[in-house]
Amino acid sequence: MKVLAIETSCDETAAAVVEQNNGRFIIHSNVIASQIKIHQEFGGVVPEIASRQHIENIAPVVRCAMEEANASFSDLNAVAVTYAPGLIGALLVGVNYAKALAFTLGVPLIPVHHIEGHICANYIENVVEPPFVCLVASGGHSNIVLVRDYDLFEVIAKTRDDAAGEAFDKIARVLGLGYPGGPLIEKCATNGDVKAYNFPRVYMPNTEDFSFSGVKTAVINTIHKAKQAGEEINKADIAASFQQAVCDVLTERTIKVAQKCGVDKIAIAGGVAANSLIRKMFSEKCGLHKFEIYSPSLKFCTDNAAMIGVRAFYSFLKEEFAQTNLNSYATREIGISGEIM
Ligand code: KG4
Ligand code: ZN
Repeated sequence: MKVLAIETSCDETAAAVVEQNNGRFIIHSNVIASQIKIHQEFGGVVPEIASRQHIENIAPVVRCAMEEANASFSDLNAVAVTYAPGLIGALLVGVNYAKALAFTLGVPLIPVHHIEGHICANYIENVVEPPFVCLVASGGHSNIVLVRDYDLFEVIAKTRDDAAGEAFDKIARVLGLGYPGGPLIEKCATNGDVKAYNFPRVYMPNTEDFSFSGVKTAVINTIHKAKQAGEEINKADIAASFQQAVCDVLTERTIKVAQKCGVDKIAIAGGVAANSLIRKMFSEKCGLHKFEIYSPSLKFCTDNAAMIGVRAFYSFLKEEFAQTNLNSYATREIGISGEIM
């Protein structure tokens, strides 16, 4: 089974040709046209500009993915596309392109939920069998998901306010580091002291949900107070202390949920899972608590279309196809793809 997958939910126009063969996924191509340079000027993603860039990029990116895969359109068994969640204008570009292509080729159109795609990135390089618990931490989401089966997901915890990646991006902006914030905070934190500031770790009672707005505000207040007092701030110390606070909460909560769910495997996914402190902490803590730990390589943590193709394979097996009236949704719960058909 060979699928062309398309991803345009935020600021990356991505296309990949993915094949499933004897239980293993072969990523024949994984092309990403990043818009980061364009949005950097504004300190974050400008939705209208993102949509326009997707329109300009989508055809060349798909052509490039097909060429790199050495594939012809007649080789494809399906076209898969991210239909939710994300920036609505951005999603619509990918969805409409995928619809037209699937209709023209006479192959099934497979709608993929972006977060389910992130989780399935774990199947690309690892053999990991559900059930397991997966932390999905990105710019738009911070969820702990119980993956009951390859196509059966249950959200156990989510953020009540900011996503972890959003907090990284905001703090990087306030520190004047640039966009996207995650990798820049990580770099800045290298020589910082994680104990310089004791930023709050928020564990709300009677829920496993996250809240990152408190730590974000605490960091911003610290920076503003120092500026008002005319004090020099040590950016590396702030970045290191903030990164440690967020990573502590993400690891601790995920392990607690995994213990409650009674699974013996934990996976991580999404852009924040590319963070080396998160990866180190998960591997140490999982070892300590006797969990197997899985993570995609860095290029499959941040947005890409290969993960969309992998998730699509499980829908293909169940013939969960969309028709040409498929819509896009800015927000959508995971695990209900079947209901949109
Ligand atoms: O999964 P992703 O590419 O897009 C969304 O679905 O949102 O995640 C992007 C987010 C951004 O907030 C970015 O700052 C964060 O992931 N990120 C990181 C790192 N690399 C990307 N956060 C922390 N450390 C990193 N190394
Ligand atoms: Zn994403």
